[in-house]
Amino acid sequence: MTRLGRFAGACLTFGCLAAVSAATLPPQPKPAATPVQKAPFGTTKEGVAVDLYTLTNHHGMVAKVMTYGATLTELHVEDASGKPVNIVLGYDRLEPYLAGTPYFGATVGRVGNRIARAEFTLDGKTYKLAANDGPNHLHGGVKGFDKVVWRAEEVKSPTGPAVKFTYRSPDGEEGYPGTLDVSVTYTLTDANELRIDYRAVADKPTPINLTNHSYFNLAGDGSGDILGHIVTIAADKMTKVDERLIPTGEIVPVKGTPWDFDTPTAIGARIKQVPGGPPVGYDHNYVLRKTDAKGLPELAARVVEPKSGRTMEVLTTEPGMQFYTGNFLDGSLKNRNGVPYTQYSAFCMETQHFPDSVHHPAFPSTILRPGSEYTSTTIYRFGHQ
Ligand code: BGC
Repeated sequence: MTRLGRFAGACLTFGCLAAVSAATLPPQPKPAATPVQKAPFGTTKEGVAVDLYTLTNHHGMVAKVMTYGATLTELHVEDASGKPVNIVLGYDRLEPYLAGTPYFGATVGRVGNRIARAEFTLDGKTYKLAANDGPNHLHGGVKGFDKVVWRAEEVKSPTGPAVKFTYRSPDGEEGYPGTLDVSVTYTLTDANELRIDYRAVADKPTPINLTNHSYFNLAGDGSGDILGHIVTIAADKMTKVDERLIPTGEIVPVKGTPWDFDTPTAIGARIKQVPGGPPVGYDHNYVLRKTDAKGLPELAARVVEPKSGRTMEVLTTEPGMQFYTGNFLDGSLKNRNGVPYTQYSAFCMETQHFPDSVHHPAFPSTILRPGSEYTSTTIYRFGHQ
């Protein structure tokens, strides 16, 4: 299938112009390729060495990923005038990650987002999970995939530099059944996309729901709040949640509510009208409008930062996306230059299956069975207007 054909689904969804112009007019590559660089990034408290891989594409865009948590630590993207800045929250040292961050850039699993009461029943057996969000389970538990050291290897890809991370999650880890072999491949394509491909197999039935938890600020890390970013989300429904952000099971329309981003809208335009909290803000799973793209990534969201002109499009094979506006950032963490990460310093677009799917048979299933392979792809595509 041609690239144009591949993105026709996205065009049907919304914002056709952006998808077509990126597909038909790719930026002209600069000649020299930069090899993937590997460097030591520190050692965990248990004495395990952590490495940092630097990916540079033909246009000079840079992504840094480390083996601790298979985490994206930096992403340098040019603005309309060609000036690159790092647009994700994160650090240039391992220590702040070991001290604890709210999942900055991390790979989240075995099951991202919340599982009510930190338990579920599968094939008649009840499994108790680690409770790390009050009585509930969040982002894989106390020591989720974001806090383990992954193996890494550079892989050859025709589209741009790539690094593949692998991890064997043991049977019973954080309460989950079965050994899970999981891989996450980051590719920085020469079309200025950060592409993330996930795969996994298990030897027993288990829930799985992987995502990346990057916090974006398209004006630059530490440059203030994201309330002026203009967001469009390809969804007219969301999963309703209770006061602890656990889905009630209802799928409700967003039209006419503060959650409606079907047309381009500033994040800050109605954020204070979002019910719930404190803290007030977006922390909700959108039910993405899907076309018949046969499992290919489809456009889920588009973001424009008006001052820099930077744009980001999110494409995914996943049925849902958690739009989170950094509501819980309270200034206690500071960036590498001492700038406090306060509320709304960044936003996340976590592509995923719906939260707490193990308790809602009507939601798309998160159960992986032996003999099947879990696959998921998300693309963050950058440009400028
Ligand atoms: C959740 C938030 C949580 C944040 C950091 C998001 O995916 O939906 O409620 O605070 O992750 O843990």
